[in-house]
Amino acid sequence: MRIDIVTIFPEFFDVLEVSLLGKARSSGLLDIRVHDLRDWTHDRHRTVDDTPYGGGAGMVMKPEPWGAALDAIVRDAATRPTIVFPSPAGEVFAQATAREFSGRDHLVFGCGRYEGIDERVFDYAATLGDVRLVSLGDYVLNGGEVAVMAMVEAAGRLIPGVVGNPDSLIEESHEDGLLEYPSYTKPALWRDREVPPVLLSGNHGAVDAWRHEQQLARTRERRPDLLEP
Ligand code: ADE
Repeated sequence: MRIDIVTIFPEFFDVLEVSLLGKARSSGLLDIRVHDLRDWTHDRHRTVDDTPYGGGAGMVMKPEPWGAALDAIVRDAATRPTIVFPSPAGEVFAQATAREFSGRDHLVFGCGRYEGIDERVFDYAATLGDVRLVSLGDYVLNGGEVAVMAMVEAAGRLIPGVVGNPDSLIEESHEDGLLEYPSYTKPALWRDREVPPVLLSGNHGAVDAWRHEQQLARTRERRPDLLEP
């Protein structure tokens, strides 16, 4: 899978060189290219923002560098990409979105800053690819970078081969619409706290049933919204 990320803070993404995604990059499973939006400016100050038409606080990202960046990235692309702009005004990112993105050949992420990007950029981007405005949740970040990091990790780990043991993807939170069951390891007694005896019983049927009950109980308590029809 190819992933292009456009940002005014390319160094933000240096951490994509570590851990499982870093390995996936070195092995060629993931081709991640990080671009500095300012490379597509032409003035001495490498300006990417300006004051909003109609007035108001803050600055808006100018359309010209975005248009040039998207043109350059899409020009040498093999397929029509999915172009994702993180935005608190977008659809909410979920495991289903991660799964969907993980099946794409080419994702382009555009990180907005300040009060956002000139709205015409989204319309133009739709001529180059399938545009998605995606929110990490109902809170406001300073820019799209942290959101892109979360999306790249959530989608990247679902690509076959990125996570060493594929079984570990099956039983985790949100895959079956429920929260994950609690996990324990040795020692069986730690600071007066016991591991639930059923897990030491060797009875796989009983373990499965207990885990499922735990999933339901946790979901009911912490995320009742997930159980609503
Ligand atoms: N940019 C600013 N806030 C954001 C959020 N909640 N999700 C995605 N991108 C954002």
